[in-house]
Amino acid sequence: MKDWNMRWSDSFAIGVERIDHQHQYFVNMFNIIRDKIEAGCGTETLRHAIQEMYYYVFFHFYSEENLMRESGYRGMADQQRSHKGFLDEFTRRISSWDGNPASLQPLLEYLFRWFINHIADDDVAIGAHLKRS
Ligand SMILES: [Fe+2]
Repeated sequence: MKDWNMRWSDSFAIGVERIDHQHQYFVNMFNIIRDKIEAGCGTETLRHAIQEMYYYVFFHFYSEENLMRESGYRGMADQQRSHKGFLDEFTRRISSWDGNPASLQPLLEYLFRWFINHIADDDVAIGAHLKRS
């Protein structure tokens, strides 16, 4: 887990302040968990930190869906399907975690990869739609 650091990049910004702030905080949460792992925190502490991230992602998706709803975004049903698929996979991975801090790395890498794709493939389109409307 050493040298593992997720950094916010301005290239992630979609130009919608509310969403960009949430995405930035999402990056912070990765680093908070990384710090807890490096500090030698136990299984229960790490499980609660991961669960907090899950609830934060849940909140974030709800926030995006409200924005889409309010602005009449046509791609909303696809986005909701994608959000649900991600939350289901996140839940599956949390419940199959063996409690070993080292085995959190693949889970966090999966989350971060998904996060980057989520912004590039989905959220950029919402940003462009909101600028037009
Ligand atoms: Fe997002």
